[in-house]
Amino acid sequence: MENKIVQARTKRTKWYQEARFGMFIHWGLYAIPARGEWVRSNERMPKEEYDKFFDEFDPQDYNPREWARLAKKAGMKYAILTAKHHDGFCLYDSKYTDFKSTNTACKRDLVAEFLEAFRAEDIKVGLYFSIIDWRHPDFPHYNDQFHPMRDNEAFKDMKHDFDNYLEYMHNQVHELLTNYGHLDLMWFDFSYGPMNCEKWKASKLIEMVRSIQPHIIIDNRLEGSAENAGSIRTLNPTPYSGDFASPEQMIPPKGICDEGGNPIPWEACITLNNHWGYHAHDKHYKSAKMVIRTLVECVSKNGNLILNVGPDATGRIPLESVQILEEVGEWMHENGDSIYGCGLSDFDKPEWGRFTQKGNKLYAHVMEEQVGAICLPDMAGKVEKMRLLKDKTEVIETFFWNLKEYTENAFFFFDNHASDCYPLPDERDTVVEITLKETH
Ligand code: GLC
Repeated sequence: MENKIVQARTKRTKWYQEARFGMFIHWGLYAIPARGEWVRSNERMPKEEYDKFFDEFDPQDYNPREWARLAKKAGMKYAILTAKHHDGFCLYDSKYTDFKSTNTACKRDLVAEFLEAFRAEDIKVGLYFSIIDWRHPDFPHYNDQFHPMRDNEAFKDMKHDFDNYLEYMHNQVHELLTNYGHLDLMWFDFSYGPMNCEKWKASKLIEMVRSIQPHIIIDNRLEGSAENAGSIRTLNPTPYSGDFASPEQMIPPKGICDEGGNPIPWEACITLNNHWGYHAHDKHYKSAKMVIRTLVECVSKNGNLILNVGPDATGRIPLESVQILEEVGEWMHENGDSIYGCGLSDFDKPEWGRFTQKGNKLYAHVMEEQVGAICLPDMAGKVEKMRLLKDKTEVIETFFWNLKEYTENAFFFFDNHASDCYPLPDERDTVVEITLKETH
């Protein structure tokens, strides 16, 4: 019998597990130095130096409607924006700090505009919120694992009232949940070393969040991190264990299950190049083909993919990202049925690609050209019919002479007349929709 926390989680995450594909947006002052969102920490940058970016921030081209249209085109069903990252800069009008977008030259509440634009495209919305804050005077500086001033002797004797920081942090979460309408998701980031769980007053925080927006889906990083998913993987998860695990920059080899072997919701967060925040010189973009295959891999293992874009200081999503997402969108337009609402299949991973499945619809994602007929292992007698997903072209099960000995399998060719080696109709991933016989 599932415990209450797990039951509630399963119910809450239904839409989310069907959605499968989301957009992550890392944006903030760090778009100006353009060396990633950790720039202040990595370069041990003093506050005064970082303030220059605050004085300068004025993203004239910020048009979240364009972002939302792009996400929609790419087939993404939800989007998460960094309302506040570790640098402490708020992209919204927090009444608890001056370090916010409404106090910069642009004078705009970037979060409010983001929410409005994405909701208008019918995309579910969430906010990333850093529970770490390198700006707040009561957040530990010296000797903290990551703070920009962690090894600066000048901060050695600085006193911190951590409770005061927690009050600030909880207040900011409270205002996001009360002033910005219905939010679908909160993405807290992150715990490390002794900084986890009740150190953040996590029970209280979760209780507050759920009392305001009970439906809201929450990640697992009040307790865990990308290094350790936390008690969400146990049979007795804590109230702050979160609704999904959040592996980062990797796809779990076998998906993610709890100790009892039950699949749990998870979402791989992946960058399009190698940085979250805008990085001017990082041109190592993943191809559309790689993104498509990564998404299919996640779904075939019962997971989601949230793909990141890092808009620049003008507010534009880099052209490379736009082009990749548009191409992914073309594929999704034709093949989305093999993604949304789909998950792990009853059949083992085939040699030429992957399977995803939804009820009696099995989706064969063929990614590697085969010499002869394409083999559906152990599926003899189980296939009712097959169609190319993108245009419903009939795909015929073949019983060609050279296959006679392999009676436990089913086979097909992409060319229904010839029986020769035939290039894949879509070399990124050709999807065949297989309707299984009811008794399979
Ligand atoms: C890491 C980084 C952070 C990023 C996050 C996204 O935890 O600290 O910069 O926002 O991953 O998953």
